[in-house]
Amino acid sequence: MRTSTFTVVASLGWASATFQSLVAALTIAEINGNRFLSQYAGQSVTGVEGVVIAKGPSGFWIRSTTPDDDPITSEAIYVFGSGVGSKLVVGDRISLDGKVSEYRSNANYMYLTEITSPKNVKVVSSGHAVAPLVIGQDTPSPPTVQYSSLDGGDIYALPNGVANMSEANPVLEPTKYGLDFWESLSGELVTIKRPTAIKTPNKYGDTWVVGDWAATGRNKHGGLTMSDKDSNPEAIIIGSPLDGTSNPTTSKMGDELDEITGVVQHAYGFYSILPLTAIKVASPASASAPPTSLVSRHHCKALTVGSYNVENLAPSSAHLAQIAAHIVYHLKTPDLLFLQEVQDDTGPTDKDGVVSANGTLSALVDAVRSLGGVTYDFTDIEPVANADGGQPGGNIRVAYLYRPDAVSLHEPNRGGPEDATQAVLAPGPKGKLAAPKLTFNPGRVKPDSPVWASTRKPLAAAWKARGAKRPFYTVNLHWSSKGGSTSLHGDVRPPVNGGVDARMGQANVTATFIKQILDLDPTANVIAAGDFNEFSFVGPMKTFSAISGMVDLDEAAKVPVQERYTYAYDMNAQALDHMYVSPALAHRRTTRFEHIHVNTWASFDDMVSDHDPSIALFNVCGC
Ligand SMILES: *[C@@H]1O[C@H](CO)[C@@H](O)[C@H](O)[C@H]1NC(C)=O
Ligand SMILES: *[C@@H]1O[C@H](CO)[C@@H](O)[C@H](O)[C@H]1NC(C)=O
Ligand SMILES: *[C@@H]1O[C@H](CO)[C@@H](O)[C@H](O)[C@H]1NC(C)=O
Repeated sequence: MRTSTFTVVASLGWASATFQSLVAALTIAEINGNRFLSQYAGQSVTGVEGVVIAKGPSGFWIRSTTPDDDPITSEAIYVFGSGVGSKLVVGDRISLDGKVSEYRSNANYMYLTEITSPKNVKVVSSGHAVAPLVIGQDTPSPPTVQYSSLDGGDIYALPNGVANMSEANPVLEPTKYGLDFWESLSGELVTIKRPTAIKTPNKYGDTWVVGDWAATGRNKHGGLTMSDKDSNPEAIIIGSPLDGTSNPTTSKMGDELDEITGVVQHAYGFYSILPLTAIKVASPASASAPPTSLVSRHHCKALTVGSYNVENLAPSSAHLAQIAAHIVYHLKTPDLLFLQEVQDDTGPTDKDGVVSANGTLSALVDAVRSLGGVTYDFTDIEPVANADGGQPGGNIRVAYLYRPDAVSLHEPNRGGPEDATQAVLAPGPKGKLAAPKLTFNPGRVKPDSPVWASTRKPLAAAWKARGAKRPFYTVNLHWSSKGGSTSLHGDVRPPVNGGVDARMGQANVTATFIKQILDLDPTANVIAAGDFNEFSFVGPMKTFSAISGMVDLDEAAKVPVQERYTYAYDMNAQALDHMYVSPALAHRRTTRFEHIHVNTWASFDDMVSDHDPSIALFNVCGC
């Protein structure tokens, strides 16, 4: 149902002083005010004047006929009430009575200022031209760094959740803060020129985009990558089209879209633009991520080490063959591969007594062999049943695949689920330096610590690479998730970073273990990798580095900041997966690191896992 056509005119000159006789009534700008919440919330208003600028299934939007000259106060507002709007046509100049309301559907969301219970709707005249505001031309460009004055300059600062926007209700500063910018346009009809999709849409087709305005963090593929204190408030999500059409669900990061015109609305926890009609992909981005350029020599001088969260992998998983293909074709069968989210042999089947993942890992090894001719060995430690979180019955754990022609476990002594491995100094062979030894190899890191309640325990191992004089050490980890986080656009400021306290404790325990190794041998080659579920510039990662002395490999290998991503969430391409290395590896000039975007570039249906794998090249000879 297409409800309207639009005549785009160059100016808003029609909004003349014709109706100055009605000044006694509140203007839309006065109703909106210069803060997030209206000072008139809950009050009845009469004779509100505006021109209908768009219509939706449950209401319509009007723009003031008597605008003020304050850019902070929006000149438009949503009128909720479908029956009343059905007879109206875009371009009708109307007056109405109603009630000023603040609406939200969840206590963590911000409110939408609207007029409810409209009545006495009178069409004064019709056929007025309606011009959308072009963002960045008729409005300032959206701020690119900060979301809100209540975030203390860092949206990931701790403690978080210390204020509510709706209680503080600050005066809007739309040229400084992203949320203030979008709020200052609440209800307005706007146009985004040359939009780019920055992430796969959700199942409803809601699509995050950035327009042709100045943006920070643009990666080479067209997404926006977050960085320290910059989580991209210049992006906006395009919600359900007003004409009943549906946005495509097949778009993906980097797709260029046709121009979008729609109304600014706050709904489901986000400022969004409801387009007049479905968005359209003009020029799709490539989904084929290049394979790694790193070349192994299967020798300590040039060893490739990968890491991949394989998202609830079980022998029956439909995506197992594609994970194997990524390992073979994109990672080029690395010598050592850290895996996270490996499920037991019966996947999510619960209470069947199965906890071993030998079948899962064997199935993956077989699939890799049949594609690439490389035969991996594997090692893991099965958790205590249902003690490590994740999908019930799945018993996810971390595991290693390794190529026996390149690496082997150094003095293997596999621990059980409750055995805590320790680094001790073992006497070296005659005339050789002593090297740290792990009491269980592989072994879990302090599995009885309360920081690991209902979550995965890290798996440490010591390895000997072909040609190496000394072992190198790895910690494969998967810290607690961000479940329970609140929206970056939400009421709670700074937004709640779900699980951050758990990860802080886990960072401490993981780092303290690594420090044991480096205290014994400050020149040891140590690699900690996996799904940290945290950004490198946030508290837990800082604690991890500070205690362990480990270095972010993205920094050490000088990966450009905007290319550091393994995941896409809401508006941000971001890195939840990392490698951290000991100073000996960080300072070696031959160290390399790459993120392989097989999943963040794919459309939703083509994603194999929710994370991208990463791969590094190291000299671990230790001489
Ligand atoms: C913010 O609002 C929520 C929901 O109403 C409430 O539970 C919480 O206590 C508030 N937080 C602060 C810091 O006022
Ligand atoms: C899994 O494999 C390990 C050796 O890697 C072996 O010790 C263990 O018994 C196996 N578990 C099962 C249930 O087959
Ligand atoms: C790490 O944990 C230890 C032991 O619980 C505690 O004493 C120390 O303060 C913690 N360090 C940090 C930085 O959290």
